[in-house]
Amino acid sequence: MTRRDILIAPSILSSDFSRLGEEVRAIDAAGADYIHIDVMDGHFVPNLTFGAPVVRHIRPHSRKIFDVHLMISPVDALIADFAGAGADIITAHVEAGPHIHRTLQAIKAHGVKAGIAFNPGTPIDALAHVIGLVDLVLVMTVNPGFGGQSFIPLFDKIKAARAMIDAQNHPVRLEVDGGINAQTARQAVAAGADTLVAGTAVFTGDPAHYAANIAALRG
Ligand code: DX5
Ligand code: ZN
Repeated sequence: MTRRDILIAPSILSSDFSRLGEEVRAIDAAGADYIHIDVMDGHFVPNLTFGAPVVRHIRPHSRKIFDVHLMISPVDALIADFAGAGADIITAHVEAGPHIHRTLQAIKAHGVKAGIAFNPGTPIDALAHVIGLVDLVLVMTVNPGFGGQSFIPLFDKIKAARAMIDAQNHPVRLEVDGGINAQTARQAVAAGADTLVAGTAVFTGDPAHYAANIAALRG
């Protein structure tokens, strides 16, 4: 197997929200590829985080890719706000509404890359029908809503997503999110993942540790 280019996407969900701009600058300097931004609505998932104004305020702190993971339902009415706030990738959940195809079209219509996310219990099959519209597939390896949970070993699902991506012609990142540490990162990459979200594993210790934390995930 050719060695894939692995991208690391630290999730600011695990950062110190009282110093959010500094935390974004710290992970940027520590070698993050994407800044992963978890948006939760207290409805689609049982937790709340922040909305587009917060994304707009942290945008000047990094030029890295802003990877916005929307755990909200309904999604479509807020896409313009997140695109306008500086998102580079907007990912919506396939479970968040009846019209994922329309949602992906709406994301792309804003000139933003489109991602599709799958909860652990959701079959990956729906990807087949929309893969032409997506730039990123997000396989959740925890039930979304909280950082610090244990990795669910969905390796067959990651492999199936990898096979679907490799069977077509445009570039699509395969991202895993939830319970990623040095060990599960290695396993997920072996199954075909090329983009790793990590909250707890990156934001452990003070900012002086972030570079080593990120390097440990690259294996
Ligand atoms: C969970 C979020 C994840 C979370 C990952 O709903 O989508 O991005 O922050 O956190 P860890 O790496 O701690 O599992
Ligand atoms: Zn996430």
